[in-house]
Amino acid sequence: MIIAIDGPAASGKSTVAKAVARRLGFDYIDTGSMYRALTWKALHLKIDISDEKRLTLFAETSRIKFLRPEDDEFRIFIDEKDVTEEIRSPEVSGAVSAVSKVPGVRGEMVKKQRGFRNAGKSLVVEGRDIGTVVFPDAELKIYLTASAEERARRRHKELVEKGYEVKIEMIERDILARDRLDSTRETSPLMRAPDAVTIDTTEKSVDRVVDEIINHL
Ligand code: DC
Repeated sequence: MIIAIDGPAASGKSTVAKAVARRLGFDYIDTGSMYRALTWKALHLKIDISDEKRLTLFAETSRIKFLRPEDDEFRIFIDEKDVTEEIRSPEVSGAVSAVSKVPGVRGEMVKKQRGFRNAGKSLVVEGRDIGTVVFPDAELKIYLTASAEERARRRHKELVEKGYEVKIEMIERDILARDRLDSTRETSPLMRAPDAVTIDTTEKSVDRVVDEIINHL
């Protein structure tokens, strides 16, 4: 079984998707972290991120995997390097839309994402195009939203806890810019699937959103 969870940046997708996966004993795939890992590698190797051909080749030849040490958070590896922390840096956040808009990169990532299903386990998959492109046949599709102010507040808290010094206004600007880029790009833009259930998380606790999703299931 596949549960697809889509929505804009900082709408609560990761927290909610992880909690749903834990409650149901499903595996969890964060597709945004795959685009982030590739972006991290491109920045690290100083690759020109406007070079679409190079990025596509790069996506084809990079190995991305998730591991979950017993009772620990999910960790992401690119070419055997654990980049779980690095991919949350403001540098990666600032560059990831440019990488994820490249059609060749998306094609390769979608292929990798569909491959996770072959392991035969039930999955909670979160992203922007899961219910529309990656798994249009998902048994349950959820579209999470929240106000831009609330999303900026959440991201700010997350970054401050990780030791980054950033202004909340800048985060809100970045989130709105990313929303714009993600929803207007030509290849599989952020879009609600017609058969998705929309849940506004602005004033709801994580537990309440998880309960709602499980009720829908
Ligand atoms: O969810 P996130 O902020 O970690 O996602 C990082 C970026 O990756 C975001 O700008 C949109 C992009 N993305 C995408 O294009 N398609 C997905 N399925 C997931 C993320």
